Amino acid sequence: MEFPDVAKLNSYYGTPEKIAFREGPGGFPVIALANGSGACEVSLYGGHVLSYRPIGHVPVLFMSKSSLYEVGKPIRGGIPVCWPWFGAHPDNSALPMHGFARVSLWNLAGTDYTPRSTEVSLRLDHSDETLALWPHKFRLTLRVTLEQFLRVELTTRNMDEEAFVFSEALHSYFMVRQIVETTIRGLEGAEYADKTQANGRGVQDGPIVVGEEFDKIYVDTDAECVVEDAALGREITVSKEGSKSTVVWNPWIEKAQRMADFGDDEYKRMVCVETANAFDNKVTLEPGATHSMAVTIRAALKE
Ligand code: BG6
Repeated sequence: MEFPDVAKLNSYYGTPEKIAFREGPGGFPVIALANGSGACEVSLYGGHVLSYRPIGHVPVLFMSKSSLYEVGKPIRGGIPVCWPWFGAHPDNSALPMHGFARVSLWNLAGTDYTPRSTEVSLRLDHSDETLALWPHKFRLTLRVTLEQFLRVELTTRNMDEEAFVFSEALHSYFMVRQIVETTIRGLEGAEYADKTQANGRGVQDGPIVVGEEFDKIYVDTDAECVVEDAALGREITVSKEGSKSTVVWNPWIEKAQRMADFGDDEYKRMVCVETANAFDNKVTLEPGATHSMAVTIRAALKE
């Protein structure tokens, strides 16, 4: 995988106090966005948001201290892009978990800014390598907008002659001070498939408090979720567009120990609330058509 030269990217697209390019861990090219509201970083490898920090806040996104930054491996934390399948491939477990977008090198498509907003767009197009993994022609665009919030929009265009079906997730990892003092509201009454119980179905009863391994795909829901981090005194609001599934995940103790790229104790400080179209909510896209899914993340400190 050949990375573009960050010095050249900087000379073409760098904008003082708004947009800068640097070499991140693993040599991955990273785009740093900033403005009066905060800062975020995006890696071209994976089309992956690595961090988001509104002014006056500790980081909103969790990033594992044990994350690998190796070509072919996903980054553990931030916002991985799961596409064109979520989870294991339905027919072939040898194919990459959560699809290939998060382990692909994306291209810079453009940058933009106004006094209030700083934005970058990345693109991933089909290639011989992607066609060998998934036999459909596509164009994916990721638009990351930093305002008084962070908005991430993933657009899929079908460039093929036939319709295709895909699933997807913006797999956001949120940092919390203490998971057992964290409550996730918004999914009350939603139906789920529980991955820890062979996808057994159930209906969410009340707000979510995580006290064991938690891995549920909520279907047919466009609800806004609020991650209430009582120990830190912060609420993170996760609003979505074009998404009918929400995944909530925490590996808890044993799974954390089994994961090579995740610290044994890090499950205490994170929870994933993922904006998705998966399971019952896969998307069918006709030739030439586009589909967009977006998440907006807002953090607020409580009085
Ligand atoms: C979640 C899945 O979205 O991602 C979990 O529901 C999975 O089952 C988790 O363990 C992490 O996946 P990965 O491939 O990044 O280890």
